Amino acid sequence: MMSTKIAPSLLAADFGNLQRDVEMVNQSEADWHHIDVMDGLFVPNISYGMPVVKAIAKHAAKPLDVHLMIVDPDRYIKTFSELGADVLSVHYEACTHLHRTLQAIKAEGMKAGVALNPHTSVALLEDTIQDIDVVCLMSVNPGFGGQSFIENTYEKVKQLKAMIQRKGASTLIEIDGGVTSLNAKSLTDAGADVLVAGSFVFKSANPTQTILDLKAIAG
Ligand code: DX5
Ligand code: ZN
Repeated sequence: MMSTKIAPSLLAADFGNLQRDVEMVNQSEADWHHIDVMDGLFVPNISYGMPVVKAIAKHAAKPLDVHLMIVDPDRYIKTFSELGADVLSVHYEACTHLHRTLQAIKAEGMKAGVALNPHTSVALLEDTIQDIDVVCLMSVNPGFGGQSFIENTYEKVKQLKAMIQRKGASTLIEIDGGVTSLNAKSLTDAGADVLVAGSFVFKSANPTQTILDLKAIAG
């Protein structure tokens, strides 16, 4: 079986030492750089935008997993493709025409991701799952790092995994928010393929070792 991917979220990095933290991820056992873009409308917080993503991309050696927490994300699909995004995730709740948005992301040569807020049922992806490369299940309410994991996520992972198998899709399940060494194994046992971790990695004494430990625990 494929090993679990670890995607450290740079939202928890030290922005004064961004290059150092991106290079730490490069040299670690991490698989993707997780990049959270927030607009202050879809979520209450504003994180960083295009110039910062460009700076991250300049130093990043692993795929860029860009998580857009913005309204009307169609406006910026081409921009993020040009910035070097490999996976571009939009929020289900922010898309009026999700199917069209997914096609537009793929047309730009990126993998298409859909993020679901904690209140959004996975059943709503029944008719699009075959077009989705990555489903990002939010295990906290999006907008901030360092929040507590919502336990109902396990049930959503199981339901989504069953749907993916029933439909014969190859969609990856990504978990975003409150991931630690305490819930990593239960998440992968439930069917998760990618674990995003912000605070748990960057606030630890030895982030490189923490990534290694998380990957070993997740299996
Ligand atoms: C939250 C972001 C997450 C966040 C996770 O809106 O999408 O990626 O950085 O941070 P932790 O791991 O600290 O919950
Ligand atoms: Zn995220």
